[in-house]
Amino acid sequence: MGERFKDRVVAITGAGGGLGRSIAALLAGEGARLALFDRDARRLAETAAVCPTSIQVVGDARSAADIERFAAEARAAFGPVEMLLPAAGVLGKAGAAIDNTEADFDRLFAINVKGPWLACKAFVPQMREVGRGAIVLFSSTAGLAGSPTLSLYSASKGAITLLTEAMALNHAADNIRVNCIAPGTIEGPMTDESFRLAGDAQAQAARRSLMLSGIPLRRFGEPGEIAAAVAYLLSDDAAFTTGIALPVDGGRLI
Ligand SMILES: NC(=O)c1ccc[n+]([C@@H]2O[C@H](COP(=O)([O-])OP(=O)(O)OC[C@H]3O[C@@H](n4cnc5c(N)ncnc54)[C@H](O)[C@@H]3O)[C@@H](O)[C@H]2O)c1
Repeated sequence: MGERFKDRVVAITGAGGGLGRSIAALLAGEGARLALFDRDARRLAETAAVCPTSIQVVGDARSAADIERFAAEARAAFGPVEMLLPAAGVLGKAGAAIDNTEADFDRLFAINVKGPWLACKAFVPQMREVGRGAIVLFSSTAGLAGSPTLSLYSASKGAITLLTEAMALNHAADNIRVNCIAPGTIEGPMTDESFRLAGDAQAQAARRSLMLSGIPLRRFGEPGEIAAAVAYLLSDDAAFTTGIALPVDGGRLI
């Protein structure tokens, strides 16, 4: 196992999730000290159990107060945070954009767009103290090409793709790199939910085979494959890379 992240301090929101946990475990294995945040205390504790040097903070990623508390507790435990992964996100409702309600829209954009922005706002000052930083935001292939089935989700992830570019320009002079990962369909709770949104068992099976037929590598991704790409973007190996959206999607967007 490498030591790319030895003693580096990394903050992760959505750390109880399929991707958040896989990434946390990889970084922990390479020596990182981890501040982990999620609204689900049980899943958060399961992630912390595979990360020997970590703290857990339970809260809502939409809440400025909760995110500021997370940033303060991370700093108190480990010193200033140098790397940030705001992974907390939700799919929202399936269907056409106009078939969602105002409440659906507000909830989805609060978690998927406002949440990552709040996290950046809370942690960039700590990165400035360190004199360097790396942020990997969580877009999606649906944030690079419009999705007819997850329309508002797609719009929220499109916002993340351009937030990445804007923030890369904002913070280049601070020596802070900002990139985003654009996963395709990855095995785990979120993908299971996307199939459930398709309807009954028959509709779910049809959706699964339709999705597979659009992926040149003819399979869904594994969380570890996203973790490896995120770790690359965070690491010094990517020291000259900022402002990109990296698709990890089995060729789906070709
Ligand atoms: N899994 C995929 O196929 C896929 C594909 C493209 C993009 N993504 C993106 O990657 C990120 C991680 O996805 P995942 O697969 O780990 O999802 P997941 O559903 O497994 O986990 C998401 C985590 O975020 C937490 N969370 C949700 N809302 C929260 C809130 N308001 N406050 C605090 N925590 C909250 C949940 O409790 C959960 O632990 C998301 O932003 C998602 O949109 C995932």
